[in-house]
Amino acid sequence: MANKNLNKAKEAKKDEFYTQLEDINNELRHYREHFRGKTVLCNCDDPRVSNFFTYFAYNFEFLGLKKLITTCYKNQNMDLFSQNESEQAVYLVYEGDKNGDHIPNAEEIGVMPLKGDGDFRSKECIELLKEADIVVTNPPFSLFREYVAQLIEYEKKFLIIGHQNAIKYKEIFPLIQQNKLWLGYGFKGGAGHFISHYEDTATAGDHREGMIRVSGVTWFTNLEIKKRHENLILYKHYTPEEYPKFENFDAININRTEDIPCDYNGVMGVPITFMDKYNPEQFEILGVGIAGLGLAAGVKPYKPEHKKYRKEIQKRGAVDGDLYMMNGKEVVVPYSRILIQRKK
Ligand SMILES: C[S@@+](CC[C@H](N)C(=O)[O-])C[C@H]1O[C@@H](n2cnc3c(N)ncnc32)[C@H](O)[C@@H]1O
Repeated sequence: MANKNLNKAKEAKKDEFYTQLEDINNELRHYREHFRGKTVLCNCDDPRVSNFFTYFAYNFEFLGLKKLITTCYKNQNMDLFSQNESEQAVYLVYEGDKNGDHIPNAEEIGVMPLKGDGDFRSKECIELLKEADIVVTNPPFSLFREYVAQLIEYEKKFLIIGHQNAIKYKEIFPLIQQNKLWLGYGFKGGAGHFISHYEDTATAGDHREGMIRVSGVTWFTNLEIKKRHENLILYKHYTPEEYPKFENFDAININRTEDIPCDYNGVMGVPITFMDKYNPEQFEILGVGIAGLGLAAGVKPYKPEHKKYRKEIQKRGAVDGDLYMMNGKEVVVPYSRILIQRKK
């Protein structure tokens, strides 16, 4: 259900939902050593309302930061949910506590006008990006591909929030394969609550006042973390019965990451959630199979070279093709699968 929220938000470019301080804290505590002496940029953040600004301003001395820059997109309105009506934006520079009260005061924070609307792609924002060592924010989901492309182009370190579906984007997946980007620690239960006015479709038990629940959100980073070097402990053994092969690809299907057999050396198709446990010293990522192109049980299987489906895959921005299995005469299409192989 909550995924529907995100899809709707993407379609309508509803990017106005805000990260809670608690979620920022929970992730950032794993990265402290990276920030000493560094300039941090939050470039999708109205400093007057963003918890990213709050986090870095209040932890400035603790982290040993050199400089904090935040830029605000379009609106100059203090209302958290204003509709970006004003074209002129501001940026803010904080260089730490000067008067010894350990609190970022108004007179210590330099608020400067930007010439344009504060779009992260604008020339003046790119100048600020060049100055930064690490970029940390929750960027607009509707511009996620462009946002990441820019970080990579300018060779920045980053820690940003996005949706796990982005793993399958043709612009993002190769970066994961090349070890230029990986997943951070993530949100509890794989879902986040964001401060928002958008309608929440979460069930009563999951609903929080003034927030939307988005499942599948996660953190993307290229900063080193311990987790990425921890081996996944595997205990199951391979049997052909339990791990059927795909019909159109020489790989076995695995429905749950914890069921990866410890003794299979060929290619394995694992759920997207495997990425949370990925250790590049343990496994190699070979590709991704995208499910959900409308193939249902009993429908004639498509050939990967079939033009219509190829086009559809490209349109969706997905990599590689669909994978399917046969159960008697029935075609079974699993969810999307990451294709991995154990490292020798
Ligand atoms: C998902 S919200 C997150 C806001 C804030 N970073 C936070 O986490 O609380 C994304 C923000 O990006 C802003 N935004 C949208 N398009 C932008 C652009 N082209 N350049 C910079 N910011 C943009 C939106 O106004 C919105 O406030």
